[in-house]
Amino acid sequence: MRLLVLGGTRFLSREVAARAVARGLDVTCACRGTSGPVPPGTTHVQWDRTEEAPAALTDGDWDAVVDVARLPSHVRRAVEAVPDAHWVFVSTINVYADNSSPAMEPLVEPVTDDVDLATDPEAYGTMKVACESLVRSGTASSMVVRPGLIAGPGDESGRFAYWPTRLSRGGEVLAPGTPDDVVQVIDVRDLAEWLLDACEARTTGDYDAVGTPTAIGDLLGEVAAGVGSLSPLLTWVPSEFLERQGVEPWAGDGSVPLWLPRPEYDGMMSHDPGPAVSAGLRLRPVGDTARDSLGAVVHGISAEREAEVLAAWSSRSRRPGTS
Ligand SMILES: NC(=O)c1ccc[n+]([C@@H]2O[C@H](COP(=O)([O-])OP(=O)(O)OC[C@H]3O[C@@H](n4cnc5c(N)ncnc54)[C@H](OP(=O)(O)O)[C@@H]3O)[C@@H](O)[C@H]2O)c1
Repeated sequence: MRLLVLGGTRFLSREVAARAVARGLDVTCACRGTSGPVPPGTTHVQWDRTEEAPAALTDGDWDAVVDVARLPSHVRRAVEAVPDAHWVFVSTINVYADNSSPAMEPLVEPVTDDVDLATDPEAYGTMKVACESLVRSGTASSMVVRPGLIAGPGDESGRFAYWPTRLSRGGEVLAPGTPDDVVQVIDVRDLAEWLLDACEARTTGDYDAVGTPTAIGDLLGEVAAGVGSLSPLLTWVPSEFLERQGVEPWAGDGSVPLWLPRPEYDGMMSHDPGPAVSAGLRLRPVGDTARDSLGAVVHGISAEREAEVLAAWSSRSRRPGTS
């Protein structure tokens, strides 16, 4: 099979390309090459997607394409260049308008013109909706895959990796919200394998690509076990208290990763992996992802700030008449 990966120099698309080589596929990565090298065994076609596609792409006779683009113009050019292949387009659960629900509708309104995500990150989901439509309407056959939080080797966001790193360090750990809050992560390697299965089987349709919905108390337990921290000392600090302390949710330096405002975001990490699993997705235990994320880049609250918040919570909960 001749596979065209649009990308191949970062995290997910690189994992797809590397695993495709391991399967014995004939793999070409089309990108600028500015994010890093393409995996060994692949052919690199130099393409800046702000420009028209080179002849090496339009004349390529591809069986399948995997694309991870965020900008409609990038997808439009690629679809026009390679309309006859089976397309597997990687979208996102940020296409959903209602984060309080795990339902696969309604979608946000599509934005068909490119928007600079550095200045307007909210346009991410709206442009992905437009990209999905371009793929569906412009290609021979297609599958749209909407991942939730992707974790594992090569993840530069440092979100999930915060937890294995933090739990392996030990001591009192700030755990956010309540242990029953549901979260889910998918390992990049599981996702990549499934995308390749979908290329080979020419799977069609729209799917959420997510891990098993798990209470965060259980997930942190699995992460801790995965990194050999057998009796983690978790102190659960309610969301309202964290908000008053100015702790950031979700991601980034200063945040407690994976913590989300509830109930507004109750649905964002409780999507149903069932249809994808029925279509062949295999999910490894999150403890394995945790173990393999040790040593990765981490972005989250600093140890000093975490200790300050825990001290503030402890002194507040000791004060008589407060809760
Ligand atoms: N991380 C998550 O938790 C998460 C969650 C949900 C969905 N997703 C989706 O998962 C996918 C992740 O993709 P990824 O890991 O491969 O990372 P990515 O950052 O989306 O990859 C970008 C790829 O596109 C190429 N590229 C960027 N600009 C280009 C241009 N102007 N011309 C040609 N190529 C260009 C880059 O190569 P060069 O820079 O070398 O050209 C790189 O290989 C995305 O679709 C994302 O929306 C991620």
